[in-house]
Amino acid sequence: MALLQIVEYPDPRLKNLAQPVSRIDREIQKLADDMAETMYDAPGIGLAAPQVAAAHRVIVVDISENRNELLTLVNPEIIASSGEEEMKEGCLSVPGVLETVRRAERVKVRAQDLLGRTLELEADGLLAVCLQHEIDHLNGILFVDHLSRLKQGLIRRKSEKRRRDRV
Ligand code: NI
Repeated sequence: MALLQIVEYPDPRLKNLAQPVSRIDREIQKLADDMAETMYDAPGIGLAAPQVAAAHRVIVVDISENRNELLTLVNPEIIASSGEEEMKEGCLSVPGVLETVRRAERVKVRAQDLLGRTLELEADGLLAVCLQHEIDHLNGILFVDHLSRLKQGLIRRKSEKRRRDRV
């Protein structure tokens, strides 16, 4: 396994639409393994392939306290959602920023696992938020895109300054 470099906002690659995975081969399995390692190392509770510059529809999530309930989803899609809730979110691609985002309270997600088996899962609370956040990434959407334009402008300037300062 290997640690991957996380692409940071406002890098345009985060805006790309990730492509469906048609075959779960060794490359996809390695990508998923490396993404999990990168997420745990960061540390974060979710990571989507576009965040490591891989344009595949793959996400990894682990919201457990003991960091031992890894969920790897290939081609995940939200097939039902209900309710509404607001939660503070952050993102490994937007370091140093936490903002409240309004999302569905419950979601039903259909995906494949790394063996290609189709699964469906229902989630609420933090897991529901995390799944919506990561699936958004596959569609080129960041949590900051859900905020007001004023806030987006502030975050963009802050992120650009952060990148400049580091160079
Ligand atoms: Ni994110």
